[in-house]
Amino acid sequence: MVDAAKFVEDAGKEIVSKLTGRGILACSGGQDSTLLAVLANRAAGDRILTVFVDTGFLRNGEKERVRHTFERFGLNYLILDESEKFISRMKGITEPEEKRKIIGKTFIDVFEEQALKYGAECLLQGTIAPDWIESGGGVRDTIKSHHNVGGLPEKMNLKLIEPLRDLYKDEIREISRYLNIPEIVQPFPGPGLAVRVIGEVTREGLEILKLATEIVENSVLENAGSWEVMPWQFFAILLPVKTTGIHGDKRTYGYTIAIRMIDSSDAMSGTFTKPPWEFLENLSTDITNRVRGVNRVVYDITNKPPGTIEWE
Ligand code: XMP
Repeated sequence: MVDAAKFVEDAGKEIVSKLTGRGILACSGGQDSTLLAVLANRAAGDRILTVFVDTGFLRNGEKERVRHTFERFGLNYLILDESEKFISRMKGITEPEEKRKIIGKTFIDVFEEQALKYGAECLLQGTIAPDWIESGGGVRDTIKSHHNVGGLPEKMNLKLIEPLRDLYKDEIREISRYLNIPEIVQPFPGPGLAVRVIGEVTREGLEILKLATEIVENSVLENAGSWEVMPWQFFAILLPVKTTGIHGDKRTYGYTIAIRMIDSSDAMSGTFTKPPWEFLENLSTDITNRVRGVNRVVYDITNKPPGTIEWE
């Protein structure tokens, strides 16, 4: 159990003592960086600019939700559309680690540009313990380069401030509740849908995945109340595999969507969710009826470990 009041006070002090001049804060709209933005705003007000980047890898409705929260907490913020830049840099890139590194590098380019404009000397990031532990922070071998660690260039021009780096997810939730920050139903990776379009990320792939993601999220939120366990994460993945199918009386040759639903308490380990068959059947029908170009749906029955939560 974390002492939320004490943490808020200590984090505020840390921010004030480390902040030289102005700072920009990289907010993904997730629970971690939103908590950081609220803490930073309480501690340093308009000396900090919270920046949210539309990478083109966001889910439907995400930008609007984030804007609403920023407004509610009276943050000094900027929402940037950099989707052209991010999507064009994905051309021809299929290797997951390379994708993550390029996305991380692009985030830093964007933030350095904004920092220059804003006259900031510091960059505030919502890195938490599992991010750096899994990125090989001296404790374990590198599993994946989480973008807020692995993508940082060697010589960064901004001083890094990471007040959440010793916290775990359950502690983040507790402190967020204490500050009345809306609970974000499930974590969403920094590189977004780019690590859920397996292989090369294309505009077509992103459009397919956005709709499939919306269908999966809404179906789980509507149905999971009656299940034994509400999944920790539930999402769709677009596979680069095309298979033969049949629609009406016509042969189709379409993509495959994988569904990942996993129960976990801290994202370090997890077991795949066992929903009723009927739920999966309805979900599959819904996806193949509504998402153009998809004719097959599969369900991921892999625990973590050996599988990670994300597929890339
Ligand atoms: P994995 O796939 O490593 O994911 O089992 C563990 C948790 O972290 C999320 N995740 C990320 N979060 N940047 C983030 O901020 C990333 O690059 C990233 N990759 C994975 C994932 O969704 C899960 O909650």
